[in-house]
Amino acid sequence: MIDIDRLQGWFLKHQRDLPFRDDRDPYLVWVSEVMLQQTQVETVIPFFVRFKTVFPNVRSLSESDPEVLQKLTEGLGYYRRFKLMREAALMIMRDYGGVFPKTYDDLIRLPGIGEYTAGAIMSIAYQKPYAATDGNVIRVISRVMGIKDDMRIPANRKRINTINQAWIMRADPRLYTEALMELGALVCTPKKPQCEQCPLKEACRSHQQQMVESVPFLSKKPSKTVITYVTLILEDNDHYIMRKRTEQLLEGMYEWPQFEAESSTGVLASLSAQGIEIEITKTLPEVTHVFTHRIWKMSPYRARLIQGMDQSWMRIRKSDLKDKPMAVAHSKIPIE
Ligand code: ADE
Repeated sequence: MIDIDRLQGWFLKHQRDLPFRDDRDPYLVWVSEVMLQQTQVETVIPFFVRFKTVFPNVRSLSESDPEVLQKLTEGLGYYRRFKLMREAALMIMRDYGGVFPKTYDDLIRLPGIGEYTAGAIMSIAYQKPYAATDGNVIRVISRVMGIKDDMRIPANRKRINTINQAWIMRADPRLYTEALMELGALVCTPKKPQCEQCPLKEACRSHQQQMVESVPFLSKKPSKTVITYVTLILEDNDHYIMRKRTEQLLEGMYEWPQFEAESSTGVLASLSAQGIEIEITKTLPEVTHVFTHRIWKMSPYRARLIQGMDQSWMRIRKSDLKDKPMAVAHSKIPIE
């Protein structure tokens, strides 16, 4: 058993001053926890501050223009989570009269809210003892308890969640949840943890057995699929030619026309066969973008449209490009 008072005392003394700790409004806890789930704290901070200004409450989010929302969160990745947030906001307006749900069972029914987010909102915003077990918490608990099981396996993560749930029942829910996450971020880090500073070191089995660096054990991930593209920064005088994605990955984002191919020769020939003539004006450096399950290797070219148009293409005024939500994979291409 860990010394919960010591953990919470450590947090009160050492916590970072983060904008989402200014107030524990459930809506804002929700926004920050959704952002923090897949993105580092330092990256999240400016996005959270802007988001809070533009969409300060559930109503404003429910009334948001999906493209404005997309633009505002562009760069955080995993856009689907914000699309689901917007749907959840609409449900809160419709089914709860705009009042943020107060029970775990109501929260977990909302789109995009799983056990982690529901637990985080219950404990941080409502001071109720519901466990929120994220990667940081898995690391801290598996180390303290000396659990060497493969944390890639859901049943093993579930056992960590059971321990977390038992501990939070004896704690101050908000302090405890934030303290465990903060300890994982500042002290019990994946590499080179600062065990000498740790309030839990006396109880920590991994520290005692000098195996901190090998816990938690995570088996190797299946390798990612690599897709090679020819990507066209296609111009037509003062317009760009772009496409709005309809695929589930990055749905609704604008992108440059791109073709799965190793070189431009076949792409130009097949476009020509469809009555589309383009001329390559510049070869740009290769760009790689890593997604969760795949890697895009892009060979970008600047090109000029001479004639024809694909039915999926759209003409975007060059000066409007900056207002369009664009996949990071493509905004990384230096188009000049
Ligand atoms: N990571 C996820 N949630 C967090 C929180 N509330 N504080 C710090 N890091 C976090």
